[in-house]
Amino acid sequence: MPDAIGGYFELELRKGQNPYPQALGFNSARSAFRALLVARRVSKVHLPHYLCNVMQEALNGTNIEQLRYGLSDELQLQSLPTLNPDEALLYVDYFGLKSDYIREVLAPHYKHQLIVDNSQALFSEPLPATATLYSPRKFVGVADGGWLVNAPSNLPTAAPSYSQGRFAALLGRLEDAPQQHYAAFQSCEQTLQQEGVKAMSASTARLLDSIDYAWIAQQRTSNLAHLRQRLDEHNLFTAWPSRPVAGLCYPLLLACAEATARLRAHLLEHSIFVPCYWHEVLQAAATPAIERSWAQCLLPLPIDQRYSVDDMDRLADTILQHMRTS
Ligand SMILES: Cc1ncc(COP(=O)(O)O)c(C=O)c1O
Repeated sequence: MPDAIGGYFELELRKGQNPYPQALGFNSARSAFRALLVARRVSKVHLPHYLCNVMQEALNGTNIEQLRYGLSDELQLQSLPTLNPDEALLYVDYFGLKSDYIREVLAPHYKHQLIVDNSQALFSEPLPATATLYSPRKFVGVADGGWLVNAPSNLPTAAPSYSQGRFAALLGRLEDAPQQHYAAFQSCEQTLQQEGVKAMSASTARLLDSIDYAWIAQQRTSNLAHLRQRLDEHNLFTAWPSRPVAGLCYPLLLACAEATARLRAHLLEHSIFVPCYWHEVLQAAATPAIERSWAQCLLPLPIDQRYSVDDMDRLADTILQHMRTS
C-alpha cells in the first residue's frame, strides 16, 4: 500500500532532534543488550554487582554466562578482569557522571569488548566503535525505547513494537497528580519485561525525534550544579566529574541506612519522590558491602528539566531542615 496523502492528523511532533540518529532502536535498553550479545556470540559477560535485575534477566534463555565485578567508592572497577576473545564487559556510566573514566581507562583497555551502558547517561556521547546502550525514558517522557549505537552489522532486524497502549501514565501525568497514574506506569514497565526483543515503536521514535535535548541538558546541568552548591558538604558521595555535566540525578550518600530511610520518608511527606537504585542488589547474597551501602544509603535526587533552581532550593531546604532536626 502506498503511503497515505491527506486524511486526519496524527499527534503533531517536530522532526530531526534525535541526538543519536545512527543508533538502532529497540523497545528497551535490555533488549538492545541481549540482541548485541547474541549477535556477537559472546559466551561470558562481566556485569557489575551494582545493576538492576532486568539486565541479568534479559539474558534468560541464552547460554551466556554472567560473572560479577565489584566497584570502588569512586564507582570504578576494583580490578580490571582479563577477558578472553569471546567475552564482554558491561560498565554503567553511573548517574551520568563516569564518562571520563570510560574514555580514559575502560575504552582504551577493553576496546570493542567494552559495552557502555548509558541508560543513566543520555548526554554522554558514544565513543567510536564502542557498543553503547541508551534508555531515553529515564530522562524524557516516553513510555519505552532503547538505543544501541555501534551495533554489529549482522544484527537481525527485530519485529516492531507498539506503544499505543502505554500512553495512559504519560498523558495522566499531564492532567492529574502522579500518584493517580503510578499503577499504570508500573504495569507498562512490566509489559516491557514480557515483550522480549522488539524494535522501537514508530510513536516512541517520533517522540524522541521531537525533543529539545540541548535545553534539557542545560536545565539538568544547572540543577545539578545548584544542588552541589547546597548539599555537597553533607554528602559522602565523592565520584564527581571534573566539569559540570547533564546527569541523571544528584546522588546524596548518607552514612547509615536508617537515617536514609527516615529522610526518604520525610521527602515523600513533602511530595518529593526519590527512587532506589536498586532494591534487588540487597537480595543477592554475593553483593559486596559497598554496593549494599549504595542500595541502602544513596538517594538519587531529581534534577530533571521539569524543575528550576527554585525547585532545587525547595528540595535542598527540605533536606537541610530535616538534617538539622533529626
Ligand atoms: C543501569 C541500567 N541499565 C539498563 C537498564 C534497562 O533499561 P530498560 O528499562 O530500557 O531496558 C536500566 C533500567 O532499569 C538501568 O538502570
